[in-house]
Amino acid sequence: MTPTADLSRRAVILIGSAGTAAALAGCSTVSPAGVEAGGPSTASTGGSAPQEVAKLADIPIGGSISATLDGKPILVSQPTEGSIIAFSAICTHQGCVVKPGEGEFDCPCHQSRFNGATGEVIDGPAPSPLEKIAVRVTGGVVLADS
Ligand code: FES
Repeated sequence: MTPTADLSRRAVILIGSAGTAAALAGCSTVSPAGVEAGGPSTASTGGSAPQEVAKLADIPIGGSISATLDGKPILVSQPTEGSIIAFSAICTHQGCVVKPGEGEFDCPCHQSRFNGATGEVIDGPAPSPLEKIAVRVTGGVVLADS
């Protein structure tokens, strides 16, 4: 079972509880918006709940992949076997989405290049490194605390 599956089950329970409360209260205190607020999107972004961002097996050794965290684009790299690091994929120049390349990250807008292991600027107009994102690997899954 994955943490995501576990969260989904909890979300269903939360939604079910809200629906039961609404039925018991004659639907007077729980609006549809209230039910949504307790739904999966809020439950999965509760601040510190770890989120699966990638499977370790999907990240090439010496390479990287694109992924998302809370709907935002990120880059997940494996510079050496079992060593995982992640960065925001938002370019520090003007906010374009940076793409994984050969051992580096490439911005398609103005050709900034970033080191695939450190996020540091290699070349281009980008003024600063990509923002690091804390991740860890558990059971072959890359998890980030949002
Ligand atoms: Fe990335 Fe300009 S937005 S180089």
